[in-house]
Amino acid sequence: MSEQFDAVDVIVAKRDGHRLGDAQIDWVLDAYTRGVVADEQMSALAMAILLNGMDRAEIARWTGAMIASGERMDFSGLSRPTSDKHSTGGVGDKITLPLAPLVAVFGVAVPQLSGRGLGHTGGTLDKLESIPGWRAALSNDEMMRQLEDVGAVICAAGSGLAPADRKLYALRDVTGTVEAIPLIASSIMSKKIAEGTGSLVLDVKVGSGAFMKDADRAGELARTMVELGTDAGVHTVALLTDMSTPLGLTAGNALEVRESVEVLAGGGPADVVELTVALAREMLDAAGRPDADPAAALADGRAMDVWRRMIAAQGGDPDAPLPVARHQEQVRAERDGVLTALDAYAVGVAAWRLGAGRARKEDPVQAGAGVELHARPGDTVRAGQPLLTLHTDTPERFARAHEALTGGVVVDPQGVAGRRPALVLDRVAAG
Ligand code: URA
Repeated sequence: MSEQFDAVDVIVAKRDGHRLGDAQIDWVLDAYTRGVVADEQMSALAMAILLNGMDRAEIARWTGAMIASGERMDFSGLSRPTSDKHSTGGVGDKITLPLAPLVAVFGVAVPQLSGRGLGHTGGTLDKLESIPGWRAALSNDEMMRQLEDVGAVICAAGSGLAPADRKLYALRDVTGTVEAIPLIASSIMSKKIAEGTGSLVLDVKVGSGAFMKDADRAGELARTMVELGTDAGVHTVALLTDMSTPLGLTAGNALEVRESVEVLAGGGPADVVELTVALAREMLDAAGRPDADPAAALADGRAMDVWRRMIAAQGGDPDAPLPVARHQEQVRAERDGVLTALDAYAVGVAAWRLGAGRARKEDPVQAGAGVELHARPGDTVRAGQPLLTLHTDTPERFARAHEALTGGVVVDPQGVAGRRPALVLDRVAAG
């Protein structure tokens, strides 16, 4: 069969700064999925997009073509409206765990199709898999039934959603083209639109532990994704939130589950509670429940009830003890002063090296490994006081974890106590 276009012509057009036509975009993604456009040609096109960008209509078409490469889910048969949340990923970001059951309390179904972690940010499925018996893989029927009965489901995304993205993302990962905003936005939004949620709240992280290190680029990514969602008929809002320091006091799978359960029990670190409630308000608002009071449902145990049912529905035992790593080591303050920096990236890499994350997607993770924080930026500390506890099953990993933290933990004798970065930095909605 003769092809409608030539891959080289498409690459050259973008290389020379031209916009791609609808038919070119549809063809190139379809032909790439079929194996007609080769990896090296798609790599060159991805680099041309990174360097020369795409306009709003091109990004929308690119996203549509990625959606068309696979199946679309349909929640319209449910008796409840649906709302979903996506985070661009951060260190200690366990918010999905308390958030999904919290929103479900108010009769809004939350279909959270999640992934496993790669690199220094953890994956939601890895965290939940530290709960004995819990299973990530559900059929579409099981998922629908759980959404109707419990209201919330967190499970593995099937391979049928946007397969072109799966192939392209793996290629971007090894060709230095992950950072292109049109490609990140279309990658995330193609999966969310194909998933079929009625509304979507995006948590776009900014800072050392995030994809986007500066607020300008994070804002551009947020605006691009909000436009894509809106154009596709999904009510989409984004919050820009700080990721210069980890969220909460834990980074690591079972450690983060434990902290999430504390939040669901009405306690837990203030920043985790603040962000969970802020995102819940946005999701409930977008799903037509503006009068709901998520802070009350977190404090009075209603969200905990849904959590327990959600975990049990997927075979997990919400009362089972969580795994604990076999070895611990502490990092102590070297002097009196104020903790002025606890760098998210440094803590994320330390947790990863301790065994909480993986370097290749087939690697196993240690359920108990990670980093526990005993102080937050802005706290006054004394020499010798423990600042962090490192957890691992394999003590030969401690040295590399300590190395990762070098320069990332700063105690300043002249530091100003109580100075903390704001958590929610901005909100982006359809204009
Ligand atoms: N997450 C995705 O799913 N895709 C990207 O391109 C980046 C983050």
